[in-house]
Amino acid sequence: MDRETAFASARAWIAQAGNHLIDGEWVAGADRIEVLDPAQETAIGSIAAGGPAEIDAAVAAATRCFRSPGWRAMPPAEREARLLRLADLVERDTAQIAAIETLDNGAPFGMTQAMVGKGAVSSIRYNAGWARRLGGDQVDVSVPGRFHAFTRNEPVGVAGLIVPWNAPFAIACNKVSAALAAGCTAVIKPAELAPMSTLRLAELVMEAGFPAGALNVVNGPGTSAGAALAAHPGVAKISFTGSTATGKAIMRQAADRVARVSLELGGKSPVVVFDDADLDRAIPGVAMGIFANSGQVCAAGSRLFVQDAIYDRFVEGLAAFAARLRLGPGEREGSDLGPLISAAQRDKVEAYVASARADGAREVFRGTAPDGPGFFVPPTIFDQARPDMRAVREEIFGPVLCVMRFADDAALAEVAAQANDSDYGLSAYAWTRDLERAQSMAALLQAGSVKINGAGMEFALPFGGVGESGLGRENGRAGVLAFTEPKSVMIGY
Ligand code: NAI
Ligand code: MG
Repeated sequence: MDRETAFASARAWIAQAGNHLIDGEWVAGADRIEVLDPAQETAIGSIAAGGPAEIDAAVAAATRCFRSPGWRAMPPAEREARLLRLADLVERDTAQIAAIETLDNGAPFGMTQAMVGKGAVSSIRYNAGWARRLGGDQVDVSVPGRFHAFTRNEPVGVAGLIVPWNAPFAIACNKVSAALAAGCTAVIKPAELAPMSTLRLAELVMEAGFPAGALNVVNGPGTSAGAALAAHPGVAKISFTGSTATGKAIMRQAADRVARVSLELGGKSPVVVFDDADLDRAIPGVAMGIFANSGQVCAAGSRLFVQDAIYDRFVEGLAAFAARLRLGPGEREGSDLGPLISAAQRDKVEAYVASARADGAREVFRGTAPDGPGFFVPPTIFDQARPDMRAVREEIFGPVLCVMRFADDAALAEVAAQANDSDYGLSAYAWTRDLERAQSMAALLQAGSVKINGAGMEFALPFGGVGESGLGRENGRAGVLAFTEPKSVMIGY
């Protein structure tokens, strides 16, 4: 499907979408929320504004499905087969889904195509394989008598999935496929700022042959639909990706009924570049590590530490790279960076830029936003940043990089301590060709993931954070087991 056809198809699809999916039926709501294209600042559609009543109905449907003999008796191989079919359907419709995502959240079409056709498809296939491989352990016991002791990894029940707007389709696919692979049923609450691709996913889940109620979708604001889902007594586990503040609110609500939570929250991830780094790879790697998706990435490398000997060359290289990035609507061929999601997000990011200036950081690069509509923020690089600045401590979630310098003779522990000076701990990055440095940084950096010399998302590896970046892990075996609970069985004979 060519670009034009994909966008025409996406527009037509969005115009008729926006209802809730409850028990296999699309349900309209009287109150609607407009859905914006952040590149044009115009409405492209609307969603039903759900709240506690719709959440109640969706959780009831998910519970009925979970308890139904058909779901309980479905062999794991059948869940796997349906998930593999889902991956094939996503792959089939990559161009249309990517165009839906681009229109709704602004990300460049090249990027959404890769995130849908490669990332999301791959994560569904990866999780599909776990459906048949979640078996428990056979355990040797020491108590007197003769026992067969083993564990069963049983699905926790109805999962509540709450997703953000920065990479909604990929995140929704990841959570939905892990929950279904584990044998849970689910209710998903899309981000009201970019809900459309999740609704398309729900259609494909039905097309793949999952029964009514296995996946339900309730649209609406976080404070009504989201909060009602997080607080619902019928929800056994909440899997949330989004801001730290909302994550904390969700954890408080879950505490009342001792529900399980996994929280994938924000970050302020450090990047350490040593003097022996391969600069031809490190410069584009570090630049896209913060500027990709216009900085709206939880794992963005937003605090950069560069060794003195290469400092000037590196910062100049970054500025030159950033100067070549083209800002424009994600729909347009050749746009490298799209707009931010909303006017509020743009204003928030610009307030951080102003704070960095006021706090005495030096602006070494600032791109230009295109004329015309769109919530654009140009890529911005500050050096002479200090660890106490707000722009260095807080998650900006925009294309803003703060650079700091470390001495040529600094001890590795000292460099790591600077990098670790954050409330967050989602990801950490280093660039070096020295094995001693690489291994030491891998051990010293406090983060859920450490990536040395550049790497993308690997679904076989657990992903998540320490500190205020969250708790629990997605991806890997851990990510699917997070939707299960071990039951211990002892049979005497
Ligand atoms: P948010 O965390 O409020 O929104 C994420 C999701 O949570 C949305 O679906 C929203 O409707 C829902 N939600 C909001 N309040 C809720 C509540 N009380 N109970 C249940 N669900 C609720 O994020 P927001 O306000 O859109 O963005 C603000 C900041 O959050 C960004 O500037 C960024 O720093 C951070 N963020 C981090 C993300 C990540 O991937 N870690 C993703 C999105 C935002
Ligand atoms: Mg939108």
